[in-house]
Formats: sequence, C-alpha cells, structure tokens
Amino acid sequence: MAIMTWNDNFNIGIPQLDGEHKRLVTITNDLYNTMKQEQSKTAMDLLLNDLNDHVITHFFHEENFMLHYRYLDYTRHKQLHDNLATNVDAYRNLYDKDLLPMAKFLTMLQNSLMHHIYKTDQEYAPFIRSHM
Ligand SMILES: [Fe+2]
Repeated sequence: MAIMTWNDNFNIGIPQLDGEHKRLVTITNDLYNTMKQEQSKTAMDLLLNDLNDHVITHFFHEENFMLHYRYLDYTRHKQLHDNLATNVDAYRNLYDKDLLPMAKFLTMLQNSLMHHIYKTDQEYAPFIRSHM
C-alpha cells in the first residue's frame, strides 16, 4: 500500500532530482507500510534515519544545481529547504518523545513533500532546464 503515489506530473525534468524525489516518496511509503505492519521501532528508526539523510543530500544537490547555474532566487529557495529540513527534524523529535503519532507525522511529511516537489521545485526547474 502507498500513502503517496508517484505521478509523472511530479517530474521537474531534471533526471537526477526526479530520481531523488521518487526515492523520498518511496521512503515515505516504506514508513507507512512499516507503521501499518506494526514492525519494531528499530525498523522505523532506520527508515527515519534514511529519510533524514536523503532529505539533506537531496537539498544539497538541488542547491548545487542552483549555484552552478546562478539561479537568482537561490537564497529564498535555500531558506525553504532549511525550513523543511527543520520541520522534518522537529516531527522526528516529537515522534521520538511519543508526542506525535506516526500517522500524523506521515500526513505532515506527505504534505510537506508534495508542496516541495509540486510547487517549490517547479519554480526553479524551468530556469535550470533552460541552462543545462
Ligand atoms: Fe526537491
């Protein structure tokens, strides 16, 4: 089962970044299935660590694209990345303290990722594509 389904409309046309977005969706679905199957907290923690690593790496790659092609709105986009990474970290901390159920964590994560992929990244993607 899936909490998020990849849709080709999510593609931003930069293959490396599209692949990384798909991986974020996969990790989110893996978290959902692990929760549904009531697997151990260790299994959940491994996926949450994977999510954290992948979010940081992905944002770093996107920022490198923007810097490389001298995207003018880089600073604002970087701030959006920092905010999202901080939010994911905050959800994780609340979950670790049993203050945020995983189902709610996943809903917030899903909304944040959808907004990131479908809205925020669509802002810079045309500029990068036209300069590649
Ligand atoms: Fe992205």
